Amino acid sequence: MTTDHPFPPGTDDPSAPPPGCPAHGIGPGGLRRLYGPEAEDLGAVYEKLRAEHGAVAPALIHDDVPVWVVLGHSENMHMVRSPSQYCRDSRLWNALQDGTVKPDHPMTPVITWQPICSFVEGDEHLRLRAAVTGAMSTIDHRGIRRFINRATQHLVNEFCEEGRADLVSQFAEHLPMAVMCEILGMPEEYDERLVQAARDMLKGTETAIASNQYVMDALMRLTARRRAEPKEDFTSHLVRHPAGLDDEEIGQHLRVVLIAAYEATANLIANVLRMVLTDPRFRAQLNGGQMTVPEAVEQSLWDEPPFTGIFAYFAKQETELGGQRIRKGDGLLFGIAPGNVDPRVRPDLLANMQGNRSHLAFGGGPHECPGQDIGRAIADVGVDALLLRLPDVQLACDERELTWRSSIFSRHLVSLPVKFVPKPEQDVMQQPAARALPSQRPEWEVSTPPPVGPPPAAPPAQPASAPVRRRGLWQRFLRWWRGE
Ligand code: HEM
Repeated sequence: MTTDHPFPPGTDDPSAPPPGCPAHGIGPGGLRRLYGPEAEDLGAVYEKLRAEHGAVAPALIHDDVPVWVVLGHSENMHMVRSPSQYCRDSRLWNALQDGTVKPDHPMTPVITWQPICSFVEGDEHLRLRAAVTGAMSTIDHRGIRRFINRATQHLVNEFCEEGRADLVSQFAEHLPMAVMCEILGMPEEYDERLVQAARDMLKGTETAIASNQYVMDALMRLTARRRAEPKEDFTSHLVRHPAGLDDEEIGQHLRVVLIAAYEATANLIANVLRMVLTDPRFRAQLNGGQMTVPEAVEQSLWDEPPFTGIFAYFAKQETELGGQRIRKGDGLLFGIAPGNVDPRVRPDLLANMQGNRSHLAFGGGPHECPGQDIGRAIADVGVDALLLRLPDVQLACDERELTWRSSIFSRHLVSLPVKFVPKPEQDVMQQPAARALPSQRPEWEVSTPPPVGPPPAAPPAQPASAPVRRRGLWQRFLRWWRGE
């Protein structure tokens, strides 16, 4: 069966129910909205869409702009792996071309096309991506794992004597920034101000524009320093790469890398810690088995992907996907979270996914995340080192009191309050093996196996990918991003 979008874009439906009515959350043409208070539980909305339409469903994003939501695992895979049919070039979007998407649409900052790897295709994508992956291939993975451990010790030292902490704001949101500053070659820039600026850019405050500028200034200073005097870091390799990126291209790619890495990895660490603290599957005493931290990370990438969706892919030609007729120029939401729970690949959501890495958390095809091994390493090493320091850590609130901020892009845990017996500070240079013996692991029985050589190399970069120029627009997007 094929279906066209059942209503002309941008039309108002006079029969729309008033707010508060159970049918609210339904927009023009009877389509479900993926925004607004009714869509707070997007997982439930996606399941309704799957039941009503199958693997690909029509829906509405902000301002009731129609899009297709790809819900099926294989349909998502097909889309991202078929560059001849679908691409990330937002200039093709018919809703932009015909004016359905107004210039002040809250998603304009993330869908406005830019000459960076997240938006370009073909030869230009190969050129820019080669520079990014080339620079990544020079990263010393063993050295970075040691650095992640040291940074974790340092962060734990900040709160270990207190006996309580919020592991989102005091750990998950700091560790990836410390590591990325080290990788990029600007460890001296890592401080509370930079973390606050990166959080500000996506959490939305009056200072969002200034925060973006603060981050960009740091990256452009770094670019100039490495252009003048290259060293052995990511930025220097990006500068020296034969692809010949100019300073503006380098600054924008550093921004994509820094913010995509920061946002996704902070979410991943928070999600893994929450699972480890609350999910009985990670308690050896309860399930009789042993799950390593990397396995817990992989399970989390299935159950709670750090980016829940990527908007957008665009159809380059008339085609069909999941039984729906897709017109040239239609926008499609790459549905990472709904694809990961497609009943055709996961008939039992409680089943352990150990050993199965075919989740959609890192995308696929030409735009597949090139930083996935770094993201995994930060989470693996950081969570393991934290649990070794705080083996008695436990949730300091009822699990039902935990809250999230959601949008089609991601789902952030707001805070993760924990308590533990206060502990003394520790030398940050101490190696993990010296800190605790296996017999001292009381409850978790989670452990990181010793590294076996460098892991294989493989945003939305979206929230980070657009430079911010207009205050009102960016703030509108931020309010929308935060679900306000
Ligand atoms: C757990 C952590 C991470 C997750 C879940 C994640 C996920 C993703 C996803 C879903 C995409 C988009 C794929 C698409 O467009 O179809 C992406 C792109 C990208 N990611 Fe990551 N990422 C993570 C960490 C990182 C890190 C640590 C870096 C850098 C060191 C990084 C750099 C990038 C870049 C540069 C792109 C754009 C690639 C392109 O368009 O060709 N990511 N990531």
